[in-house]
Amino acid sequence: MDDDPLVCDSLREMLLLEGYRTDTALDGDQALAKLQRERFRVIISDIRMPGVNGLELLRELQGRSPETPVIFITGHGYIDDAVAAIKLGAYDYLTKPIDDLRLKLTLHRALEQVELKSSYQSLKRRFRPWELAENLVFQDREMRLLLELVDTIADTSATVLITGESGTGKTMLASQIHDQSYRRESPFGKISCGALSETLLESELFGHVRGAFTGAIRDKKGKFEEAQGGTIFLDDINCASPNLQMKLLRVLQERVIERVGGNTPIQVDVRIITATNASLQEEVARHNFREDLYYRINVVNLNIPPLRKRLSDIEPLIEHFIQRFNQSHRRQIKGLTRSALQSCLRYPWPGNVRELENVVERAVLLSPGEFIIPEMLPPEIRAAGRLGPPGTGDLNLEEALGQAERQIVLETLERCKWNRQLTAMALGVSRTTLFNKMKRFQLVDPRRQTVAFSSIDPL
Ligand SMILES: Nc1ncnc2c1ncn2[C@@H]1O[C@H](COP(=O)(O)OP(=O)(O)OP(=O)(O)O)[C@@H](O)[C@H]1O
Ligand SMILES: [Mg+2]
Repeated sequence: MDDDPLVCDSLREMLLLEGYRTDTALDGDQALAKLQRERFRVIISDIRMPGVNGLELLRELQGRSPETPVIFITGHGYIDDAVAAIKLGAYDYLTKPIDDLRLKLTLHRALEQVELKSSYQSLKRRFRPWELAENLVFQDREMRLLLELVDTIADTSATVLITGESGTGKTMLASQIHDQSYRRESPFGKISCGALSETLLESELFGHVRGAFTGAIRDKKGKFEEAQGGTIFLDDINCASPNLQMKLLRVLQERVIERVGGNTPIQVDVRIITATNASLQEEVARHNFREDLYYRINVVNLNIPPLRKRLSDIEPLIEHFIQRFNQSHRRQIKGLTRSALQSCLRYPWPGNVRELENVVERAVLLSPGEFIIPEMLPPEIRAAGRLGPPGTGDLNLEEALGQAERQIVLETLERCKWNRQLTAMALGVSRTTLFNKMKRFQLVDPRRQTVAFSSIDPL
C-alpha cells in the first residue's frame, strides 16, 4: 500500500519476479476493502498517506488478523514514524529508496515467522488440549460445588482420589489441582497404572539401579524422584498390582521410595493424585484392592458426574469447543440450531465430554453453513433427538402421552435412586402426585418388589 502508484508498480514487479502474488492499494480505504475480501500473508505499507494512514491501518489489522506481519516503508528522515510503528507491533520497517535485497530478506523472514506460528498452532493441536492447562468449563450445580471443593483443597498437600466415568475430565481436573497448588512451578508427572507391565511400571515410578533386571544398564530416576516438590498423577489406580499397592502404601505412609533393585531409601516430597473409572469400593470388597491403601488415597474424593447427569453443562461445553475448533480449523461456526442442541441434550453421551468434543470437532469441520444442523451430528445423536418415545406409532395422543409420562417418571425415579422426595422435587410435583402416578403406572422400587403399595408413604 502506497499513495504513490509508481512505488506500488515497481514493488509489484519486483515481487512478481521473486514468485510472489501481490495486490496493491493506493490508500487506506482501498486497502481495507481488499483485506475484507481476501487474506494476505504479509502486508507492506507506506506510513504517511492521505486518509487512513499506515499506523491506523496497522491498528485495524491487529484487531482482524493479528498474525499477519506488517512491514512499513518510511521516507528518509521519518525514523520516528518507524519507531512508533514497531512499538505498535509492526514486524519491521524499510527506508526509501527501497533496497531490493533488504526487502527480499525482510519478506523472507516475515513469512518464515508466519510459518513457524502456524506450525506451532498445529503442534498444539496434536498434543491434545489438556497439556495446555485449559480451563474447565462448567455450569452445573454439582460441578460448581466440586470446583469449590477443589479451590479449598488445591493448595494443600492432601491426597486426592478422582472418580468418574471415562471422558468426564479426570485427567484435566488433576492437572488443574496441580496448577492451583503451591507446587505449580514443580513438575506434574502422570502415568497410567493400566498401560504398562508390572515390572516396567514399577521402574517407571520408582526408577531402578543398574543390573536390577535385564536391560537395566544404568541407574535411572523414576517419576517420583523426577516430580520432587510437585505432583504425581496415577491414573487407573484400580489396575495397580498387589506389589505396587504395597509400595504405594509405603510412599503414602513414610514418603519414602526405593529404586527397583536398590535398597537406599529416598525421601520424596510429592503430592499424590489418583483416578479411576472403576468402583474402588467394589475392588476392595473383592479383595483386589488393599483396604488400607484405599483409605490412604481417598482422603479427598472428587467424583465427576457423567455428562448425562449435568445437562446444563452441555451447551457451554459445545460453545467452548466450537470456539476452539473454529480457531484451529479456521472456521467461523456461530453455534448450533435449536434442534441440534435438543438432540445433544437428549443423547446420553456414554463417552462423556471426550465424545462431545469429538462430535463438535467433526461438526465444525463438516458444517457448510454458520450453524451446526442436526445432519452434521452422528446418526445415534440425531436419533436421540426425535420427538416421542420409540414405538409410539400406533397409539393415540393420550396413550402416547401416558407412555412418555411413565417413562419420564421412571427415569427420574431411577436417577434419584427411588428417593421419592427428591424425585418429586426433580419433577416439580408434590409427593402425593408422584405417589399417585407411581400407583397408576405401577412403578415399584426393584429393591422392594415384594412390598405391596400401602397408602402410607414411607418417606
Ligand atoms: N469441564 C471441561 N471443560 C472443558 N473440557 C473438558 C472438560 N471435561 C473434559 N474436557 C475435555 O474432554 C476430554 C476428556 O477429558 P479427560 O481426558 O480429562 O477425561 P478422563 O476422565 O481423564 O478420561 P479417561 O477416563 O479416559 O482417562 C479432554 O479433551 C478434556 O480436555
Ligand atoms: Mg484420564
